[in-house]
Amino acid sequence: MTAPTPDPSPLRPATTAVTAGRPAHEPDSPLNPPLVLASTYVAGGETEYGRYGNPTWQAFEDVLGRLEGGRALAFSSGLAAANTVLDLVAHGETVVAPRHCYLGTLAQRADMEQRGRVAVRLVDVTDTEGVISACEDAALLWLESPTNPAMEVADIEAIAHGAHEAGVTVVVDNTFATPLLQRPLDLGADVVVHSVSKFLAGHSDVVLGALVTRQDSAYDAFDTRRRGFGAIPGPFETWLALRGMRTLALRVERGQANAQDLVARLRTHPAVEEVRYPGFGAMVAVVVRGGAAAADTLTRSTSLWVHATSLGGVESSLERRRRWAGEPESIPEGLVRLSVGIEDVEDLWDDLSAALKHLT
Ligand SMILES: Cc1ncc(COP(=O)(O)O)c(C=O)c1O
Repeated sequence: MTAPTPDPSPLRPATTAVTAGRPAHEPDSPLNPPLVLASTYVAGGETEYGRYGNPTWQAFEDVLGRLEGGRALAFSSGLAAANTVLDLVAHGETVVAPRHCYLGTLAQRADMEQRGRVAVRLVDVTDTEGVISACEDAALLWLESPTNPAMEVADIEAIAHGAHEAGVTVVVDNTFATPLLQRPLDLGADVVVHSVSKFLAGHSDVVLGALVTRQDSAYDAFDTRRRGFGAIPGPFETWLALRGMRTLALRVERGQANAQDLVARLRTHPAVEEVRYPGFGAMVAVVVRGGAAAADTLTRSTSLWVHATSLGGVESSLERRRRWAGEPESIPEGLVRLSVGIEDVEDLWDDLSAALKHLT
C-alpha cells in the first residue's frame, strides 16, 4: 500500500460537487464539460482510443475522486466495478463478505465460489470482532455500510484497522451513504465501490458504477482491467451522472431530512413492526405486520411513492425486497425498503399513511 494522498481540494464537499471537473474559466469556454462522443482520437496523444479514456469520464471521475478523497474510475455499472475488484483476487483465495448486502454482489461472489475461484466467508458487519477474526488468511474484505436492505452499519474504521493487521485489502460499497455522509478511505478502506446509478447520479436515468482508491497500484490494476476487459462507461451516462452530482449535496440533505421525519412517524404506526434506520441518509427499511402479503399490499397501495427497484432518485420509491429470489431468507418477508426522495414530506406521509391504512 502507498501512503494516502491528501485531498487536493481545499473546498468543502458541497462546493466541490458543484465546481470540480469544469473547464478553466477562459473567455468563451463552456461552463460545463461538453459531452465528448468519440470512439477514437487523432494518434500521438495520451488517449488514442475510446476504450482507454474519454474527457467526459474524466470530468465525472474528477468530481467523485475529490469527494471520496482518492482517484476514481467509472465503469459501465456498479456490478462491473465490483467484478473488477473481485477479478483481482487470486485463484483459491478467501473473500470475507457481508451476509446481508446488495444481492447482485452477493450473487457475484457466490458464483465465483461455486466455480472454485475463491472461498467466501459470510459475516455480520455489525460484529466488529467477528469480521476481524474472519479476516485471518483472507485476501479481501468486502463491506457494505449501511447494508442493503438490512440497514446494518459497520464500524469501518475499527474493522479496516483489524483487517489491515491481517494483511487484508478492505473494500467498502458506499452507495447508500454517499461521500457526503461517509468517506471510507478516510476511515482506512483501500477501495470504495459505488453504484453511481443511485444517489450520485440521482435521477433514475443512468446505470453506472465507479471505483475510488488512493493507491496507485490499485488504480493502475483497475484501469488495466477496464481497458482490457471493456466494462467502460458510456460518455452520455457519465455526463448525466456529472450533472446529477452538481445537486448531490442538496438532494442528500433533503432526502435525509425527509427520511428522519418519516422514520419518527413510522416508529409509532400500528401497522409497522420495526423501522430500521441508521440515523443518516435517505434509505429506510420498515417491517410491516402481516409479512409478505401485507408488504405487497403496501407497495400496491401507494400512488406518489413508486413501486420500483433501485433507489437514490429524486422521486420516492419502495419495494419488498424478498420478492427477489436471491434475497437472503434472514431478510424478513415483510421488509419494505424505502428510498426517500426530495418531495414535500407531508405529501410523502399522506400517501404512505393512506397506503398503510389498507394493512390495519
Ligand atoms: C449497494 C449497491 N451496490 C451495488 C449495486 C449494483 O449497482 P448497479 O445496479 O449500478 O450495477 C447496487 C444496485 O442496486 C446497490 O444497491
